[in-house]
Formats: sequence, structure tokens, C-alpha cells
Amino acid sequence: MTVHPSSTIEIPETGSIPQHVAIVMDGNGRWAKQRMLPRVAGHKRGVDAVRRTVQACCELGVKHLTLFAFSSENWRRPADEVSLLMRLFIRVLRRDVESMHRENIRLKIIGDVSAFEPELQAAIHSAQALTASNTGLCLNVAANYGGRWDIIQATQKMLASQPALAKSPELIQESDLAPHLCLSESPEPDLFIRTGGEQRVSNFLLWQLAYTEFYFTPKFWPDFGLDMLNEAIASYNQRERRFGRTSEQLSVPPELRLSS
Ligand code: FPP
Repeated sequence: MTVHPSSTIEIPETGSIPQHVAIVMDGNGRWAKQRMLPRVAGHKRGVDAVRRTVQACCELGVKHLTLFAFSSENWRRPADEVSLLMRLFIRVLRRDVESMHRENIRLKIIGDVSAFEPELQAAIHSAQALTASNTGLCLNVAANYGGRWDIIQATQKMLASQPALAKSPELIQESDLAPHLCLSESPEPDLFIRTGGEQRVSNFLLWQLAYTEFYFTPKFWPDFGLDMLNEAIASYNQRERRFGRTSEQLSVPPELRLSS
């Protein structure tokens, strides 16, 4: 398994195309309301936006895309909306998995899938198995995911695999915990996008967003696609990613930089 550098331990390489984009797909309900449609119509159009965004990432050369489809707090929604979302996930997994496989996309669902009904768990399992050895875009879909849950489940796994750490907690390093986090096979996100106008993280990748650049747009998720992704990447390219260094340090060519 590739071990990706931790942004708090070493400075990762950066380029004009983010390697990893993470998105909170917000605004489906408001998109539908504006059109006097039921909320589920917004979620269905949201699926079209997911397809366009996956395609755009493949075209632009983004290597990892992580989408927040259902948070651990989304169970608080009305029961009929939750159940419609579950049916939609099953349908998308079944319908789109063959084309994702043809496009060499590797699908990974991150989150506590044990809470889902058996039919959805089976669809997740077979879609992941079919695409497991693909080498193109790594598409992570967060479902029943919460950043705090992720850190807790990683801690439990770390202590189960290294019980000695429970007796000597002062020995615990980032590198003990990080391999057990859900996104351990992806580098940390370079760019976080949230549609729908809200400016918050909503318990998404709390650990992994340590040095991620944030981009918020008031536009609703069903309208998202290549053009909006390009706008977000253009904004990303205006940022100075210092990872704790000063601006002056960055103006010195890398070969002349002193490490201390
Ligand atoms: C947030 O909008 C959206 C969701 C909670 C569901 C996201 C689901 C999809 C885009 C469809 C399926 C996705 C995949 C990957 C198969 P909201 O309902 O909170 O909108 P609002 O803030 O306007 O009410």
C-alpha cells in the first residue's frame, strides 16, 4: 500500500491540477424547491452532476475524488427522504458500475456501511469488488460517514493491531493512526469544494483537511460540472500553499532553500 506524506510531517508536492478533490454536494433540496419540485428531484439531478464531475476529473487528470453523499447526521432527515436516497444509491451503484469499470475507475465507499440495509450493502460490496484493481480515478463516496467516527474507528483499529500503545500512549504517532483512517489509500485532499452557499465542514474529513484549500460557491450541486470545477481549480491556483512556511521562504527557489 502506498503511504502518502502527511501534510503536517512533510511538505507534499503540489501542482496546478489538484491530485485530490473532496466535495460536499449541497443544495439539491433548494435547487428542487426553486423549481417547485420535490426534494428527491434535486437528488436525482444531483446524480447527473456526480456523473459530470467524475467525467471532468478523468479529463483534467484529478486522481482522487471524494464525494460526501450521506453523512452520519443525515439519518435525522425525514424517513421518506432517507429511504428515497437509499433507493437512489442502490440504483446508481447497479446502473453505473459497469461504465465506471470500463473507464478504469476504482470505487470505494467510505463510512459505516453496516448500518445500511442488506441490499445496499450487497450493491456496495459487488461494485467495490468489480473495480478494486482499476488504476484510473479513485472515486471515494462517503456514505454514513462522519469525520469523528473515522478518527474513532481508526483509533480502535490502531489499538487492536498494536495493543502495546494502550499501555504507552505517549508513544502514539500520526503514522500509527493514519493507516487506519478510511482514506489511507489517497493523499490528503488538495482542494475542498462545497456548493450551496454554506461555509462549513459538516463533520467531513476532519483529519484529512488539515492543509486543504477551501472553495465555497453559492451555486447548487445539481448545476455543478466541468465549468464550475475549472472555476474552483482556477481559485485553487491563486492560493499560496505554505504548509506552515512564510511567504518569503517560498520566493526562494527550492534548490536554494535551507531546511532550517
Ligand atoms: C445535500 O443537499 C445532498 C445530500 C444529502 C445527498 C447527496 C446525494 C446525491 C448528490 C445523489 C447521489 C450521489 C451519489 C454519489 C450516488 P441537501 O438535500 O442538503 O440540499 P439543501 O441544503 O438545499 O436542502
